[in-house]
Amino acid sequence: MEPIDDLAEALREQLIRDARAGASDGDLAADVAALVEREAAALAPAERADLAARVLLAATGLGPLEPLLADPDVDEVMVNGPDAVYVERGGRVEPAGVRFGSDGELLHAIERILAPLGRRVDEAAPLCDARLADGSRVNVVIPPLALTGPCLTIRRFRRDGLSLEDLVRLGTLAAAEAELLARCVAARATVLVSGGTGSGKTTTLNALSGAIPGAERIVTIEDAAELALRQDHVVALEARPPSLEGRGEVTIRALVRNALRMRPDRIVVGEVRGGEALDLLQALNTGHEGSLSTVHANSPADALARLETLALMADVALPHAVVADQVERAVEVVVHQARRPDGRRVVEAIAAVEPGAPDRVRVLAAGGELRGLGEGRLARRLGEA
Ligand SMILES: Nc1ncnc2c1ncn2[C@@H]1O[C@H](COP(=O)(O)OP(=O)(O)OP(=O)(O)O)[C@@H](O)[C@H]1O
Ligand SMILES: [Mg+2]
Repeated sequence: MEPIDDLAEALREQLIRDARAGASDGDLAADVAALVEREAAALAPAERADLAARVLLAATGLGPLEPLLADPDVDEVMVNGPDAVYVERGGRVEPAGVRFGSDGELLHAIERILAPLGRRVDEAAPLCDARLADGSRVNVVIPPLALTGPCLTIRRFRRDGLSLEDLVRLGTLAAAEAELLARCVAARATVLVSGGTGSGKTTTLNALSGAIPGAERIVTIEDAAELALRQDHVVALEARPPSLEGRGEVTIRALVRNALRMRPDRIVVGEVRGGEALDLLQALNTGHEGSLSTVHANSPADALARLETLALMADVALPHAVVADQVERAVEVVVHQARRPDGRRVVEAIAAVEPGAPDRVRVLAAGGELRGLGEGRLARRLGEA
């Protein structure tokens, strides 16, 4: 902490004492200015202004962000610079109607968010991912990387997540589709959720996990823990980025390998986006079926292709046909989801992986309508369950 922060903290405490003693006229900014004039008259004007800004921010916590974070309807807060603050409510992105006084004020708010987490950003390390105590996910990018000023994105964590019933209520999928997916998960089909950025993949993954029987041992693996499983027997693992000196990184891939030694009944991987694809495929094909994950893709067929590409990148010596075969054996169901322009998240298709079918998938449901299960592997699995 800089000396000026200590001074700001001392003045903030004085401010509270003054207010308790009835010395406030209700205008916080004016009170702070008067206090700084009185207690720090020896400082240069620019330093006094900086000090006043810090005291004010300390006194109001996260400043303009505070009412947004206190609003339970806000799912995401996006700050693209002091004058551009947006929120997502009910799937819609809209201007938040608040602003910061300056880049400096916004940076102070960012520092206040990161400091208790032991993280910081500066010109040398202008990117930062962190997770708040309440589980919300925070990303910060500052100049020179961000051209419009410091950027802050906070994705709100819902303590209990959304259940499959919640998703039906929100119009994300039909009740019959939710029921089909719950049967697939309970019967240990491996399910992959695919979709674009922010299409609700993680939320759906979390809801699907609710169909895992309570007695099973679940290991979850994520970059930044977002899942909130309702079962008791859950081991949650979180990857670790390298330190500023480039040491100590623990990848998703290392955690997937480690999870196999933890006697899991199910492995839930938040998102497959790297070499872990290969380890996951091998695990799925050697007795760890019934796992759940998400992948960034444009269609169910594309999700399979993406998984193949990721696995091939992990071991360039593997023949493509071998990896394609592993993908087809490992993944049984793909749930493809999209974010509509009106903000709704919609399951566009549920598909069973069938090697002989066109695109290697058979569509089981689309647009909320169920089609036949066919006679493939999934039909047999569900028939036996
Ligand atoms: N079914 C849904 N209906 C309405 N809003 C949803 C739904 N699913 C998710 N959301 C909202 O959409 C945002 C993104 O959700 P989520 O994190 O699940 O998406 P994602 O596809 O995993 O995103 P990313 O690509 O960043 O991993 C969240 O703010 C969440 O509250
Ligand atoms: Mg996600």
